[in-house]
Amino acid sequence: MSAMGDAVKAVAPMMSGEAAYDAAAVREAAELIGSHAGTAMTELFPEDNENAASYVKDAIWQDWDTFADLAERLHTYSEGLALAAENGLASSESGMADAGAMMGGNAMMGSDDMMGGSGMMAGATMGREELAEMPADAVFAMVSNTCSACHTRFRTEAK
Ligand code: HEC
Repeated sequence: MSAMGDAVKAVAPMMSGEAAYDAAAVREAAELIGSHAGTAMTELFPEDNENAASYVKDAIWQDWDTFADLAERLHTYSEGLALAAENGLASSESGMADAGAMMGGNAMMGSDDMMGGSGMMAGATMGREELAEMPADAVFAMVSNTCSACHTRFRTEAK
């Protein structure tokens, strides 16, 4: 988790334009996040967790499907980010128009699914191929939304 935190911190300034965009670095960060997502993540939370860490909510085990789904979603999105790294930022080129159309065109940003709303798991997760066509910053936003969606639900406030 902390490794993922560092990866996100390294990339965030590039996404907001505060640091020079480096596609290779973005891809590397995405791969690191991917290597900690999916089953690599859910394995860290065995049902009979004896050294249950203090910042974990029981909700994880009560709502395991949602938890595992978010971990898997993070995996898909991080793979998408690795593929989209070369696309650069939406704001840097004509990609903006496309991105805008994409956001408005499908339910992506408008849906509660993304934001951890009640209907959260109802929506379809976007696939890698679709993500690969998107500006890197849009995919990065989806990655970090997934981090927060899971933390909001399953991590206690202590940190
Ligand atoms: C599927 C659920 C889930 C997803 C997705 C998720 N996290 Fe977490 N994260 C947790 C839980 C649960 C904890 C509390 C773990 C603990 O205290 O042992 C945590 C803790 C953390 C911590 C504090 C860990 C520490 O060692 O102090 C950081 C930093 C963190 N997550 C970053 C991230 C980032 C960055 C992402 C996205 C790239 C992410 N997480 C995605 C569930 C998730």
